[in-house]
Amino acid sequence: MVNIINGSVLAKKIRGQVAEDIGRLKKERGVSPKLCVVLVGDDPASQIYVRNKEKACAEVGIESEICRLPASIDEKNLINIVKKLNSDANIHGILVQLPLPDTISAINVLNEIAEVKDVDGLHPINMGKLLKGESPLFLPCTAEGIIELILSTGTEIRGKEAVVVGRSNIVGKPVALMLLQRHATVTICHSRTRDLGAVTKRANILVASVGSAGIVHGEMVKDGAIVIDVGMNRVAGKLTGDVDFESASEKAAYITPVPGGVGPMTIAMLMKNGYLAAKRAA
Ligand code: GUN
Repeated sequence: MVNIINGSVLAKKIRGQVAEDIGRLKKERGVSPKLCVVLVGDDPASQIYVRNKEKACAEVGIESEICRLPASIDEKNLINIVKKLNSDANIHGILVQLPLPDTISAINVLNEIAEVKDVDGLHPINMGKLLKGESPLFLPCTAEGIIELILSTGTEIRGKEAVVVGRSNIVGKPVALMLLQRHATVTICHSRTRDLGAVTKRANILVASVGSAGIVHGEMVKDGAIVIDVGMNRVAGKLTGDVDFESASEKAAYITPVPGGVGPMTIAMLMKNGYLAAKRAA
């Protein structure tokens, strides 16, 4: 019998803890956390994600500012805006919502965010520290949320076979490193992987993060696996994960739903990072 991991409930609990921590920070240190989200263009999914981040900020007591910019902005001007935010002492955390328009290099822009304000954990220093097993100031939110979801099942990660499908900088690579740090045996699969199912079938912990609706189905899942579905695909107007929930549920011991699994955890971890950024500044 499969257990559904309720990301919404866990995220709510984490936001509650963050709200308490922020209340204490305000009272004891007089510091009020503030986050700036830079949103370029009018990608409809990004608009929804940013609105959800704004709502969560209000709930936990983080002031948020959305810096809306036209898709026509060039890289140099965007970098100048990031630099201004870096030097604004009232802003503790900066998040540049991805994807950026094709005309702009996300790498160049993310590299300019001050390491101490990098609440997305995507700056090369923070990512580099993660790679080296040092302590980054911030961990990438979705990857950290995934680890929390796995831990919430009470399963020990050490010694397990973990397979991550997807090698993005935002999710695949950092979550693989975090699993490795917790002593899992980690395999990363991607679009050129031969016989994907043969690899995923080895996984005690399977993370699907490729952005391809239903690519992971039941016969690719090991009996008793933990299946984490990071996919947020729109299929006929409906939000759909990378995992075929029905068939995978027949094999998995634990599975995350879409929506209500990883998504709310990403935002909860962003709130935690916003708090950490302000606490550090204090
Ligand atoms: N777009 C989709 N997910 C994310 C995320 O976690 N961070 C940023 N910056 N952009 C995203």
